[in-house]
Amino acid sequence: MDGFELNKIVASILLTLVIGMASSLISDALVTPKPLLHNVYIVPGVKKNELLSASTLENDPPPIEPLLATANVENGAKIAKKCVQCHSLEKGGANRIGPNLWGIIKNKMAHAIGFPYSKGLEAKKDTWTFENLNHFIYKPRGFIAGTKMSFAGLGKAQDRADLIAYLNTLSDVPQPLPSSTQESKKNSKKDIHSKSENINQP
Ligand code: HEC
Repeated sequence: MDGFELNKIVASILLTLVIGMASSLISDALVTPKPLLHNVYIVPGVKKNELLSASTLENDPPPIEPLLATANVENGAKIAKKCVQCHSLEKGGANRIGPNLWGIIKNKMAHAIGFPYSKGLEAKKDTWTFENLNHFIYKPRGFIAGTKMSFAGLGKAQDRADLIAYLNTLSDVPQPLPSSTQESKKNSKKDIHSKSENINQP
């Protein structure tokens, strides 16, 4: 093998390496992977987004409704001690560092007249549903950017459920919790059933 032949071999090896590197760089630049918003494979028995929950956990607490069904109002009253340093809870109570929270469930956001709310909360123009409150007390700043409520958040889902169930009792019109609506649905079905039985009876 002469020197020219050897040069050709070395050159072709180098060329292969360069092409390999260049194509990998180009393909990296062309393809930018995006995380999926939804699970592409629907696996029976696995709830939507369950597989992605690890990545979304930071800002999204699990839904509160299933936990409200088994909420412990007395425990909720204990947890509410974390709130009373800034909020009064009784009817007609004064606004403190935070606004009075009597009847907050299903109330409009920024409900207290004259309270100097943050722009973020005022702009939200939504209602304090169970779920919105769940998000807010899980991570106030994650739910309302620039909120004035300097509270780290309640990480334990059942604690949030207990607290929300308790706050719901502090109202002129406590809302039905998910469990009681299901119960009443069951009962109303029973009623219909027993009525039809009655009709059949002589
Ligand atoms: C360190 C004081 C502080 C603590 C502790 C605190 N809050 Fe607040 N809270 C505030 C402030 C201040 C605001 C007004 C937020 C804004 O304007 O962005 C607020 C607003 C709220 C609102 C919105 C009221 C409305 O009218 O829209 C709710 C609901 C609420 N807090 C619930 C709670 C609950 C429940 C707890 C206990 C887990 C709690 N807060 C603990 C200071 C506090």
